[in-house]
Amino acid sequence: MSKEPSPELPPTAGWSPTSWQQKPIQQAVAYADPAALQQAIARISAYPPLVTSWEIERLRGRIAEAAAGRQFILQGGDCAEVFAECHPDVITSKLKILLQMSLVLTDGLKRPIIRVGRFAGQYAKPRSSPSETRAGVTLPSYFGDLINADDFTPAARRPDPERLVSAYQHAALTLNFIRALVEGGFADLHHPEYWDLNFLGKRGLSATARDDYQRRVAFVANAIELMEVLTSQKMDQLTHSEFYTSHEGLSLHYESALTRQVPRRPGWWYNLGCHLPWIGERTRAFDGAHVEYFRGIRNPVGVKIGPTTTPEQLLRLLDVLDAGREPGDLVVIARLGARRVREVLPGLVSAVAASGHKPAWMCDPMHGNTVSTKSGRKTRHVDAILSELLDSIDVHESLGSWLAGMHFELTAENVTECVGGASGVQEADLDTAYQTRCDPRLNYEQAMEIAFAIAERMQNGKRAVARHDSAGAPAAKA
Ligand code: PEP
Ligand code: CO
Repeated sequence: MSKEPSPELPPTAGWSPTSWQQKPIQQAVAYADPAALQQAIARISAYPPLVTSWEIERLRGRIAEAAAGRQFILQGGDCAEVFAECHPDVITSKLKILLQMSLVLTDGLKRPIIRVGRFAGQYAKPRSSPSETRAGVTLPSYFGDLINADDFTPAARRPDPERLVSAYQHAALTLNFIRALVEGGFADLHHPEYWDLNFLGKRGLSATARDDYQRRVAFVANAIELMEVLTSQKMDQLTHSEFYTSHEGLSLHYESALTRQVPRRPGWWYNLGCHLPWIGERTRAFDGAHVEYFRGIRNPVGVKIGPTTTPEQLLRLLDVLDAGREPGDLVVIARLGARRVREVLPGLVSAVAASGHKPAWMCDPMHGNTVSTKSGRKTRHVDAILSELLDSIDVHESLGSWLAGMHFELTAENVTECVGGASGVQEADLDTAYQTRCDPRLNYEQAMEIAFAIAERMQNGKRAVARHDSAGAPAAKA
């Protein structure tokens, strides 16, 4: 089937950008003033789009390539973006970490890497409980800056429709700067030797692993230089416009206000708020409001699936979200947890393969591996994250399938939110720089270490073993 939308195709039956309102909805927000909500939606609906239909079509084409094993998706960013961190240095460092990881992966995988940020709109958070009680006081939970504020006061926690408008504006400011940076280039890209990789030598890494890292860094530096010589273009020009945006499409008020038709593609609806919106694990009921909204848009759509997902449930979802069975329609983001992946993933992959659907399979090794420390901090172990990734690659390979991408919560800042890895963050260190507004993110060193390990695994075609010399920290199960 062609990747271009065909004008002959009828619009999706019974669908409109607001048909989701007829379906049961999870994670709904109770706005006290419906008129103020309608005004906010009307303002966003009149604003210019944040992304274009041709960018979305290009991403669809690239995801179709990833689904066929010829490209690879790297998706990452904050768990929750917050308005107060709409700063140039924060945005620059998010691009930097994604770009550096993608160069390492390009070297290992020998495939183009599709870079997708969890940014410019990742402002809404699903919560396991709609309310929170502290010292006998119960208030609505914090649902992300798109909905309310984090402070534990009635005023802060009241859902405020003006925040929908503010989210659009912060997304626009962020994206404007991202586009400028991508156009203008990142100065430090040319010199992987300046990539702060010293940590690789400092903690219990085996000599073989250290040699491999050093060889790979040198290779990337040479490859950049060679590419620039061969094409007479600077690296920043070569990577021009190759960042895509994504967020969880949780607030369907916000998403539908940015859902538009475009003159040159009659009959089709695009979510022009980001390139790759996804449905979260908590809102993926196949007969619910979120799936209803997502089935009608032309964007490639992500859907997160947790360890309780059955093959039957997944196939029902695919029948709705990938009704046209067109590669590039759908990205399945499995977040099964290191303990469950070998048990659950094979049945899901086999059922999908037998159905004829061809989604791109990604692994989110973060959300199935969240644990609480004794002091009540949420954290994740680098070893568990890596183990889920390596197991996913194994499972796909054993079934003649392939992993098409990885989804991370990460930051280039030196935070202490996840434990383990060469950077040596221990549970006792978590309070030093625990900054996330929601889930624990990989820091720069942890994220780069994982990129190197996956590059190594994909290049060598076998599991990486004995990456650490230190006791108690094997990077991968045998
Ligand atoms: C997330 O990506 O931050 C998230 C809430 O994920 P999930 O829907 O997989 O739980
Ligand atoms: Co999260």
